[in-house]
Amino acid sequence: MLQNKNILLCITGSIACYKSVDLYRKLKKEGANVKIAVSASAAKFISPYIFESFGEEVFEDDAFKSPLSHIALSKFADIILIAPATYNTINKLAAGIADTLITLTAAAAPDKPKILVPAMNPNMYANKILKENLEKLCAFNFSVVSPETGNAACGDYGEGKFPEIDDIIFGVKSVFKKKTLKGKKVLVTAGATREYLDPVRFMSNGSSGKMGIGIANAAVQAGAEVTLIALNIGDRIKYINRHIKIINRTDFSGLKEVLLSEFKKTDILFMAAAVSDYGFKEKSPVKIKKSGNKGAGGTLQIELMQNEDLLKAVSKIKKIGQIVFGFAAETDSAIENGRKKLAEKSLDYIFVNDVSKDIIGGDENEGFLINKSGEIKSFKRENKESLAEKLIDEIN
Ligand code: CTP
Repeated sequence: MLQNKNILLCITGSIACYKSVDLYRKLKKEGANVKIAVSASAAKFISPYIFESFGEEVFEDDAFKSPLSHIALSKFADIILIAPATYNTINKLAAGIADTLITLTAAAAPDKPKILVPAMNPNMYANKILKENLEKLCAFNFSVVSPETGNAACGDYGEGKFPEIDDIIFGVKSVFKKKTLKGKKVLVTAGATREYLDPVRFMSNGSSGKMGIGIANAAVQAGAEVTLIALNIGDRIKYINRHIKIINRTDFSGLKEVLLSEFKKTDILFMAAAVSDYGFKEKSPVKIKKSGNKGAGGTLQIELMQNEDLLKAVSKIKKIGQIVFGFAAETDSAIENGRKKLAEKSLDYIFVNDVSKDIIGGDENEGFLINKSGEIKSFKRENKESLAEKLIDEIN
């Protein structure tokens, strides 16, 4: 999404300045053209020579040396990314003060999107002057990637830490996305349910939750308010954007209870979770012992009981205007089976994966999107994140 986009990375003087080197490298990796502007105090924290070593021209804060730099930079930028943005710079921007290269450039680019990544002491970040000014700037083509909570360099604890690089990249990409789901509430399920036989053993499948996480993140970028019901997704939780409300559940009954209540508040449901079709008829409250069996080669009989189909349960409470998007895992006759499921489960869309092709648990996916009118669209193999963005675009 950032391929060939022109990004002006502006660095102002916070202790977090050194992190902007990683940010620069990630922007380049994403294919962006990056120019760098460094304030006088930032140049004391990090040497512009770092960026020059990567072959970049660094614009320093000397308006008298090159009086028209701010105009050239404002014309270059598709986005002005001020990271870190200090208390001083944010408040100056809000007051319309333009006395440094960075504030001048922002002033010369009123119509360009500008992103602020504040990083400062928690008390300074909590200061109402700053809060009011951030709000004010958001009405003038600025957006904010808010800081994290943690220990500041000075030892104080609170909100003000420079966010993770991936969060900033996510914010930059969001600027390029149309806000087609603004005002919509999206519910996503991701991962695999576990059916427990006893407190230790369970039955499950290899679904990683990556597709559902991709859908949830793409929906945030499209402006939706997103809730994700996460089923046993382990440390993949770190890939979920922090604006997403996460509800963790483990088994079929936990999922059913929260899904049916959350669905009532939802405009669009993406049912990406791999739900167990069967659970154990009886669950032992204690660990089942092998003693009593006949030793190696002996058998153990366990009865399974079919679970309810949750999408069918959802269709019974579905109201006009609500959209339900299902997924199907097929190893053969993908389109035929997908059509059948779309009809049986009263879906608006179904994405059919051919799971015989190494898709479950992998980073990539491919398949067919079928809608209620029977139209079919084929999607070639690509990573789950970018496929998710395309599926979100289809909903629009
Ligand atoms: N699903 C559901 N409730 C279940 C099983 C599946 O809501 N008990 C949902 C899945 O989340 C998915 C869709 O139904 O969105 C299709 O799931 P899939 O496993 O492909 O199909 P099943 O309906 O379980 O049918 P089968 O396993 O026989 O192919």
